[in-house]
Amino acid sequence: DKGNHRHFMEKEIHEQPEVISHALSNYIDFHSQKVHLDEMAIDFAKVSRLAVSACGTAYLSGLVGKYWFERYARLPVEIDVASEFRYREMPLSNDQAALFISQSGETADTLASLRYCKEQGLKIGGIVNVKESTIARESDGIYPILAGPEIGVASTKAFTCQLAVLASLAIGAGRMRGTLTEAEEKQMVRSLSELPRIMSRVLNDIQPQMESLARELSKFHHVLYLGRGTSYPMALEGALKLKEISYIHAEGYAAGELKHGPIALIDENMPVIVIAPHDRFFEKTVSNMQEVAARGGRIIFITDEKGAAASTLPTMATIVLPNVAELIAPMVFALPVQLLAYHTAVFMGTDVDQPRNLAKSVTVE
Ligand code: M6R
Repeated sequence: DKGNHRHFMEKEIHEQPEVISHALSNYIDFHSQKVHLDEMAIDFAKVSRLAVSACGTAYLSGLVGKYWFERYARLPVEIDVASEFRYREMPLSNDQAALFISQSGETADTLASLRYCKEQGLKIGGIVNVKESTIARESDGIYPILAGPEIGVASTKAFTCQLAVLASLAIGAGRMRGTLTEAEEKQMVRSLSELPRIMSRVLNDIQPQMESLARELSKFHHVLYLGRGTSYPMALEGALKLKEISYIHAEGYAAGELKHGPIALIDENMPVIVIAPHDRFFEKTVSNMQEVAARGGRIIFITDEKGAAASTLPTMATIVLPNVAELIAPMVFALPVQLLAYHTAVFMGTDVDQPRNLAKSVTVE
C-alpha cells in the first residue's frame, strides 16, 4: 500500500526518519548513550581486519562504513563489489571477520562471497533487511537493518538504515578496541539520536526545491556527481540512483579525481552535482568546484549552512541542509540525492518503482 504517495519509492523515502529511529534503537541504549553490540556476531576487539562485500547500493553503504571503521575503530577494511570479491581469491586469515550487506539477503554474488569467506574460516556477519533470507541464515550472526519491506527497485530506506547500522557498529567497535573514549561515544550517540528529527525536517524543507530542480535536470543527458571522504560514496550513490530510475547517464567520482580525466567532459551541457558538507574536506572540494566553474560547467551544490556561507561560486542551484555532525552527514545528504533522482524520473515519466531491465533482487550472477 502506497498510502498517499504516488510511488513506493516516494513512500519509502519519507519513511526514513521513522525506520532509522527503529533501526538505531536496536543497537543503541539512548539512556546510557552507549552502543550495545554484546553477543552479536563479531567480536570487533579481536579482529585484525574486516572484509566487506555487497552489490549496488548495499556496496556503497559499505564504502561509507569503511571510512567509519577505519577512522573511529582503527580497523582496516577491505571492501569490494561481490561479483569481483568472489573470484579474486583474496588471501584471508581467521583473525579477520567478514561483513556482507544485502537488503534482500538473496543476492547471488554476495552469497557466493559469504560462502568463500566461510570456507576460509572467517566469522561472518550479515547486515540484512530480510531476516529469513539465505544470507541471514548462512551468517554466524545478523545485524538487522529493520527498514521494513522495501518495494521500490531503487533502494532508499534500506540504504540509510544500512548506514545507521554501520555507524553503530563502527562506534561499538571503536569502544571495544579502545579507539574511542566514552565521551566521544556519547557525543556520537547523541548525534545519531538527533538523526530522525533532522531527517524529517530536511524532507519537509527541501521538497519544493527538489521538484523544480528536477524539472531542470531532466533536460540534460549527462550528469557528474563529485564528493570527498564519505561524500565520495554518496556521489556514487547519487549517480546510481539517477541512472537507474531516470535513465540519464550519470557518473560519480571522487572530487580529487576530476583532474585525472573527467574534467575533459565539463561544459554547459553536463551539470556537476557537488556533495560537500562543511567538513575537513570542504576547502578541497570547493577548489574542484572552481575548476568546474572556470570551464563553464553548471554546478548543483549540495551543502550545509556553513558551506553555503563559505562559497561564493555561482551555481545553477544550491541546496542548503542544516549543519550536522560529520558522522550523520551521509544519512542527511542521502535525502536530496534520493529526492532529486525521484522527481527527475517522475518528470521524465519512467516507471519509477519498476525501472526497465532491473530486478529488485538479483539471484543469478
Ligand atoms: O538486496 P541487495 O541489497 O543485495 O541488492 C543489491 C543491489 O542489487 C541493489 O542495491 C541495487 O543496486 C539497487 N537497485 C540500487 O538502488
